[in-house]
Amino acid sequence: MIKRFFPLLMAALLAASCGTTQSPQDKLTVNDKKIDQIIAQMTLEEKVNMLHSKTNMSSAGVERLGIADMHYADGPFGIREEGVPNGFQSAGWKLDSATYFPTGSALAATWSREMAYLYGTGMGTEARLRGKDVILGPAVNIQRLPVGGRTYEYLSEDPILSAALSLQYTLGVQDKGTAVCIKHFAVNNQETNRGSVDAQIDERTLREIYLKPFESAVVEGGAMSVMPAYNKVNGDYCSENEHLLNEILRGEWGFKGFTVSDWGGTHSTMGAMLHGLNVQMTGSNYLGQPVIDSIATGALTEALVDEKVKQILRVRYAIEAIPDDVANTKMTSQPECQDIAKQVAEKSIVLLKNQGGVLPIAKSVKKIAVIGQNAVLKTQSGGMGAGVKALYEVTPLEGICKRAGADVEVKYAPGYKNFPGRRWGPPSATVDPLVASAIDEAADPDLCAEAVALAQEADLVIFFGGTNKSIETEGSDRQNIDLPTGQNEVVAALAAANPNLVTVLISGGPTDLRQLEPVSPAIVQGWWNGTEGGTALAEVLFGDIAPSGKLPFTFPAKLEDSPAYALGNFPDKTQGGDLFTLMYRQDRTRMSREEIQEMMAKMPKPVSKYTEGSLVGYRWYDTKNVKPMYAFGHGLSYVDFEYGAVKASAKKDVVKVTFNLTNKGGMTADEVVQLYVARPEATVEWPSKELKAFDRVTLAAGETKTVTLEIPVKDLRYWNVDKNAWDLEHGKLVLLLGAASDDIRQQAEVTI
Ligand code: BGC
Repeated sequence: MIKRFFPLLMAALLAASCGTTQSPQDKLTVNDKKIDQIIAQMTLEEKVNMLHSKTNMSSAGVERLGIADMHYADGPFGIREEGVPNGFQSAGWKLDSATYFPTGSALAATWSREMAYLYGTGMGTEARLRGKDVILGPAVNIQRLPVGGRTYEYLSEDPILSAALSLQYTLGVQDKGTAVCIKHFAVNNQETNRGSVDAQIDERTLREIYLKPFESAVVEGGAMSVMPAYNKVNGDYCSENEHLLNEILRGEWGFKGFTVSDWGGTHSTMGAMLHGLNVQMTGSNYLGQPVIDSIATGALTEALVDEKVKQILRVRYAIEAIPDDVANTKMTSQPECQDIAKQVAEKSIVLLKNQGGVLPIAKSVKKIAVIGQNAVLKTQSGGMGAGVKALYEVTPLEGICKRAGADVEVKYAPGYKNFPGRRWGPPSATVDPLVASAIDEAADPDLCAEAVALAQEADLVIFFGGTNKSIETEGSDRQNIDLPTGQNEVVAALAAANPNLVTVLISGGPTDLRQLEPVSPAIVQGWWNGTEGGTALAEVLFGDIAPSGKLPFTFPAKLEDSPAYALGNFPDKTQGGDLFTLMYRQDRTRMSREEIQEMMAKMPKPVSKYTEGSLVGYRWYDTKNVKPMYAFGHGLSYVDFEYGAVKASAKKDVVKVTFNLTNKGGMTADEVVQLYVARPEATVEWPSKELKAFDRVTLAAGETKTVTLEIPVKDLRYWNVDKNAWDLEHGKLVLLLGAASDDIRQQAEVTI
């Protein structure tokens, strides 16, 4: 079961290269004849009825012909609780508590194809129990901005890492008989003005960086559905973007399934119909009656409707519909899925710093002071679509207490106030002493003093800082990456009271550590790590397992160093709008959908310029010689790994690197080995180096393994804008093998 993903991928690749079997997308066409016959029996009304929402989370089938409705479920990290038919409010069900899987950047920190595949199977299994046909995920956009509201939902700033994991997640979900709806296609990298912003990007960057994770899931993984994003790309909304949907997705990638607009992200009848959308979610004001009217006037043809229905039915027949009396008869969260969530969490935790070997926690430690509300606050809900009603969630404090056992005393103090995010409606009448009214509120002197008193008595202090899912959330970007509510002051006071201090950051994206880093000898990135997050964290802190996560994005020293900020591309002060947020905040707007759409049309048209091109994340820091706080790919272990000399070879289709890797320590540990490529003599412009291959290797204490990394030559191509095609520049490649983008251990040269 665990190795399932390897044969599957190999089979897909072999099939593609030998041209013997159908491609993953072509497999969707097996029922085409039957589908044509069924469509011939449908009325126009029945067909059009399939092109828009039926409820907030379903689109219609045709009962008369035995075609079941299509049931959708958020989201990327757990099957979302059942909502009422026409909104996101809870339906109040009892059996819909799901497994909460680690969030996107945590999954990516495992750098593990195996974990991504298992994760997908876990999501697929639970979706089936709930009678869901399509999972609205994975979410695979590139993490362009450190402040991005959905940075934590997305996987990585690097396309090769994102693509490898997006592919495996897709295979895992679909192997369980559920379709993915890979999102948000494409260039959805900011929440600011997300419903109106035009991402202006050059074709080479679009292809090489931003489309890569989608391309792998569609072409190699056979992703059955795709969700166009809210934003525009180069002038057109993604849900009616000819270039993205018709030319690239269907034309070049051979996509045979269907597209579903993001909720509230459909913008016109003609645009959507002509330029690649299948289903309007939600509402029917564009892809309902107006389609029928447009056919009557001759503006649209019924043949176009037939084609769209056929694309939907291909998925409908590929996914077994689960009858209502079979679905939801068991609890959604299943033990084997909880175990997957635990395995992912264990491999995701990143040891950023460990000066003087503070970690793992020494046997002599008998009194631990756990400070910080992030040790006790649950992280399953919040973040809008990506929230999960978890069956259970082990918090960091619970994990530590359980693992510490009876002979270690663990005491907790909140340390700082929590900032629960923007509040709608009138201010609350009661004042909660643990809740801040502003994100940048200074440290609370009483809470700080209480924490310092605990720290003074303890052998070890573990400070839990970071953000929360109201600060990092869909719908808005952070204003900055500062640690909120005086956390820097609190940690400085704790360090003065007791220098035996570990900081654990509970967040999904990077934070500014300039003040915290000098006073904290050990720092751990602990993520929003799912149902078993606290258990996994305790295992790492106490040294039951060695930490093995590696950063999937750069921690900049300061926000202004990051590429989009440095070039003035972000933030843009123009106030555009977010249709989704407005539509579902009718308590605030008191406007109809149509009025909101009219208002949106009159709003300013914000633009996001991607002039940094492919210099996203570490590509920028490396090329511009800007030192980050922690580099892409960084992550320490409790052991040292020795990288032996590399043997490199280049053949027509593949570049190979082989080397010995030795665990020099006294415990089993995993290392994520990373292979970067530099092209010193290229005539085409490139970043100073780019990740091209990686693997996770498990080694027992003292063990040596021979590791081979392969780079398919097709991944070394660039998008030639003049030819409007992929192209390969031959010449010298420098292969840089290392433990992080800033920790290169061996190198070799080949010529391709
Ligand atoms: C989000 C999607 C989500 C959808 C349905 C939208 O606001 O952008 O990611 O799947 O809502 O909840």
